[in-house]
Amino acid sequence: MVDTKPSLVVLISGSGSNLQAIINAIENKQIHARLCAVISNRADAYGLQRARDTGITTYVIDHKCYNSRESFDLALIECIDKCQPKLVILAGFMRILTASFIQHYSDRLLNIHPSLLPKFKGLDTHKRALENAETKHGASVHIVSNELDSGSVVLQAEVPVKSGDTKETLAARVLEQEHEIYPFAISLIIDGKVKIKNNALIYNHKPLTQPLLWQSGQLKEQ
Ligand code: GRF
Repeated sequence: MVDTKPSLVVLISGSGSNLQAIINAIENKQIHARLCAVISNRADAYGLQRARDTGITTYVIDHKCYNSRESFDLALIECIDKCQPKLVILAGFMRILTASFIQHYSDRLLNIHPSLLPKFKGLDTHKRALENAETKHGASVHIVSNELDSGSVVLQAEVPVKSGDTKETLAARVLEQEHEIYPFAISLIIDGKVKIKNNALIYNHKPLTQPLLWQSGQLKEQ
């Protein structure tokens, strides 16, 4: 039987625990889509094993084999487009993407970032949250735009910063939330509850001007 569900492609570089959460949500029918392919720029990414264990097609496109960002991104596009995905999902994909890649997937490219955006764009977010003596930290699912970690945020989850936290304990607390909000945000988009148009978000037929909030395992009422 042909699977007519919308297709997803996930891009990873490492452990793939967010990928695993997405795989689980598809299996539990929380996300009404099929995972067409997982692509990694690193052959040793553990996430590839997670995908193979579930019978998902995997590809390795090693950025070191390309002499420019443009040629690497073109190879990615060629591979991704075979799936005609409704969404391209970055899940710990540690490459900066070219403007033409981002443009090619405009309104269907999502990322998860381990901070309460717009705070702490870029790397080392947990360390920086601790250094800044933040009392709360968290994760954000956002549309990818040309500027790093700056696209509209769909959904955020907050966690407390506790006394005695190290960047590892804080990262683990945030990651737990990531595994809840990424599948949920994907399902909102796949089910048409959140629409993306010209890099802006529409929720319940109205522009979404503030991110949706995830609290105690569910969407907080607006
Ligand atoms: C996560 O912390 C995510 O927010 C960031 O990269 C990490 C990926 O972790 N973009 P994993 O590979 O999904 O375990």
